[in-house]
Amino acid sequence: MTPETPEPVFIDFKCPHCSRAISFPDHRAGLPQECPLCFAVVVIPAQSQEYGLLLPLPLNTQRLVLRRFAPGDWKDLLELMSDEESFRYLDWNPMDEAGVIEWIEKDQSVSFTQTGVTLNLGLVLRENPKLIGVASLHFIEDDLRQLGFQILIHPNHRCRGLGAETVGAILDFAFRGLNLHRIATVTDRRNVAGRKTLDRAGLRQEGECLKARFQRGEWIDTVWHARLQAESP
Ligand SMILES: CC(C)(COP(=O)(O)OP(=O)(O)OC[C@H]1O[C@@H](n2cnc3c(N)ncnc32)[C@H](O)[C@@H]1OP(=O)(O)O)[C@@H](O)C(=O)NCCC(=O)NCCS
Repeated sequence: MTPETPEPVFIDFKCPHCSRAISFPDHRAGLPQECPLCFAVVVIPAQSQEYGLLLPLPLNTQRLVLRRFAPGDWKDLLELMSDEESFRYLDWNPMDEAGVIEWIEKDQSVSFTQTGVTLNLGLVLRENPKLIGVASLHFIEDDLRQLGFQILIHPNHRCRGLGAETVGAILDFAFRGLNLHRIATVTDRRNVAGRKTLDRAGLRQEGECLKARFQRGEWIDTVWHARLQAESP
């Protein structure tokens, strides 16, 4: 006798972009997927309902709004991305004006439904709407249940808790806005400010890897931080 395979259960709803009826297996609930009919991003609701959900953006914190880039961000982004010292511990490179403008342009068409793409969010101060940082999010695994991220804040706005506030918003996005299982990030071991920020935001240090990343001509030690949805209130 062979064990019976359970019938797949589907969640039915209309795409919030093209209004056509679509359906996904229930184990994808809470995850962003591409609408098979119009290819826009839709978040699968927990159960069948009239309309599917949109990506839960922008994110709001006490002092920041985390939102997709707009064409007018280029000056603030250039100020942020041209400061060479900020990249000392990152595997990113500084950008010039042309690079920033191209980045904003390409970012408009990013569809956050697969590994290998990055969802960039500008960190904008509420008190005076200036973009003072970037949070870059990506999926770590093809099943889209684990989120990786990096953040960068302009030197003029550091050491005021904005880094930890940003990581808090990313945790909310992953575990409340979406239904992800785990969030994780890797830092250069020498990056004390980065590691402290992650500790302060409630991520657990999981391990150190020796000479695990080749960066700017040398092998560097890295540190993993993570948090599970099950650990979040
Ligand atoms: C890491 C970074 C985002 C932190 O931003 P921030 O707004 O200053 O973060 P917070 O104010 O929330 O916390 C910073 C923590 O680092 C500490 N810190 C800041 N600069 C430091 C330094 N040079 N040496 C040691 N600790 C430092 C602060 O005291 C604070 O620790 P505390 O909570 O124990 O007081 C910012 O430094 C940055 O953009 N660095 C360059 C990019 C980067 O390294 N990104 C990390 C990838 S996740």
